[in-house]
Amino acid sequence: MISQEEPIGVIGAGAMGAGIAQVALVKGHRVVLTDAHQPVLGKARAGIEKAFAREVGKGRLTSEAARDALARLTLAEPAEGLGRLAMCAMVIEAIIERLDVKLETFRALEGVVGRDCILATNTSSLSVASIGAACEAPHRVIGVHFFNPAPVMPLVEIVPGVRTSDGVTHDARALIDAWGKVTVRAADTPGFIVNRIARPFYGEALRIMEEGDADIATIDWAMRERGGFRMGPFELMDFIGHDVNYVVTESVWTSMYYDPRYRPALSQKRLLEAGLLGRKTGRGFYDYAASAVAPEPTRDEALGDRIVQRIVAMLVNEAVDAVHLHVASAADIEVAMTRGVNYPRGLLAWGNALGPATILAELERLQQETGEDRYRPSPLLRRCARDGMALPT
Ligand code: NAI
Repeated sequence: MISQEEPIGVIGAGAMGAGIAQVALVKGHRVVLTDAHQPVLGKARAGIEKAFAREVGKGRLTSEAARDALARLTLAEPAEGLGRLAMCAMVIEAIIERLDVKLETFRALEGVVGRDCILATNTSSLSVASIGAACEAPHRVIGVHFFNPAPVMPLVEIVPGVRTSDGVTHDARALIDAWGKVTVRAADTPGFIVNRIARPFYGEALRIMEEGDADIATIDWAMRERGGFRMGPFELMDFIGHDVNYVVTESVWTSMYYDPRYRPALSQKRLLEAGLLGRKTGRGFYDYAASAVAPEPTRDEALGDRIVQRIVAMLVNEAVDAVHLHVASAADIEVAMTRGVNYPRGLLAWGNALGPATILAELERLQQETGEDRYRPSPLLRRCARDGMALPT
């Protein structure tokens, strides 16, 4: 077990690394934060300081606790290499998402830290197995996948690679649990739990729009007002940014050997190519200019319910298939989708409320209409529908 007295290392002080460092600091650890680019370190520290001030303002942290937490932060300059991480009980890597750079970092890290130090990666799309392969002791390499922003989002996916030891999995999970996060265990498969199961939320919405059955404003309205989701798919894609959202979809698709279930949409690729990345560039699916007139949804309830039924059927199928293929337990899948991406209810429970036979009928209708393997029902969904059984939850 890693105690509060032991220091934690974080490599990469960008959005994720700074957030993870903040979480560990608040929980009483000394944290050594490093980055290849010097200016990023100062920015990360300023960001953490500001976040603490906000917490103090809201009465969630005393000013003494905030001061002490900040005093536990050590910024290790790039020129010092990874040497300052030597005493850490766990190092979490949150650097650029490139396998070659991560491999080089893990190799160097192993030469610095103690034998028992856990080496964790926050990767979203690379396999833990491939990162562990850089190390002489791959049993201590594990995925700990935080969500953005790390201090706010409760979910962390714990991802043991094929060579990760049970002891390391246990200790890493216990530590993140002790940080007050909600952990779920995911197999080392593309997209882990959330980024895999959420794909149809975007993909099926894009397909409905491309087919011309409804416009973006109507699909967003339907998913919010009739489906109970916090944001519609197009608003959410614009919010995440197409440079991130499209790239995740493409990565899951290619990693799944081009399974048509995950195939990206050309309409989204064109936005990316045009530099219309969403909110951050002022335009994506929507135009965010002050002078822009927001498109009005049709507000046709029957159409809205058809849209929700189609997208939710695809999401439920994805969740059932993840159970079928042992990506995670049914219970962890429910937790992941409600706590990681704030879905209004667990997808398996939702599937049961609608009825497995209804979900199956919707997928078979789409499969027949389109002739596409994209709508292939999970064998477990078929079995439950055939035998009149509930989906596992
Ligand atoms: P970011 O671009 O904000 O930060 C990455 C940082 O790593 C930069 O400050 C960069 O200077 C530094 N860096 C690059 N190469 C380095 C090296 N060799 N040594 C030390 N520092 C180096 O990226 P972000 O968004 O924080 O992502 C980091 C990791 O977390 C990636 O693996 C990403 O896939 C993953 N992730 C990102 C999420 C997100 O929503 N942004 C969510 C969950 C995981």
